[in-house]
Amino acid sequence: MIPSTILKLIDELDALGKQRDDAWQVPRAEGELLYQIALATGAKRIVEVGTSYGFSGLFWGAAMRRTGGHLHTIDRETKKYESSKQTFAQAGLSDVITNHLGDARRILADLPAGIDLAFIDADKKGTRDYFDLIWPKLRIGGSILVDNATTHKSELSQYVQFVRSLKDAGSVEVAVGNGLEWTVRLA
Ligand SMILES: C[S@@+](CC[C@H](N)C(=O)[O-])C[C@H]1O[C@@H](n2cnc3c(N)ncnc32)[C@H](O)[C@@H]1O
Repeated sequence: MIPSTILKLIDELDALGKQRDDAWQVPRAEGELLYQIALATGAKRIVEVGTSYGFSGLFWGAAMRRTGGHLHTIDRETKKYESSKQTFAQAGLSDVITNHLGDARRILADLPAGIDLAFIDADKKGTRDYFDLIWPKLRIGGSILVDNATTHKSELSQYVQFVRSLKDAGSVEVAVGNGLEWTVRLA
């Protein structure tokens, strides 16, 4: 169960997301699924590409509070970096979430290996670049989730074809919210 302090902020950002024209956040049902995936997989090191105002980050943060893990979330827009950081502080999640400001390619290159779960939710063109930077740092059994698998099917078709061709991966579409391409790294 997500604590009421965090749920209150989820409600606020859910409402604000419908008014803002640049939030592009996951639908609430998808956020709930992200929370569940993190708990079910016992993820302790999560990396998110695309923080926006912190809506999906609240679900990850709530899960990290339970698993004793940590979320690294990245956005290149200062306004969103500042706003999400403040939201995470209000949610009491500052100790389990690190905000990074800048281009994800630069920041991912500097993150250490041992990632349990990554969520790629930025510009669709960059998806393969982010994947290539994360994959070698993902532990065996770890997952990469890519958002918009159903809403941006054609933009992501090459990426999906690529991950499904990998011998050391299993990949499926989960049609909840915007849709996720869920790729698991195999031995
Ligand atoms: C779809 S929104 C993320 C929504 C968020 N995951 C949520 O559900 O609340 C995408 C975000 O990715 C950021 N972004 C796009 N390309 C980026 C890049 N190369 N590096 C860092 N951030 C990037 C944008 O600024 C935008 O805020």
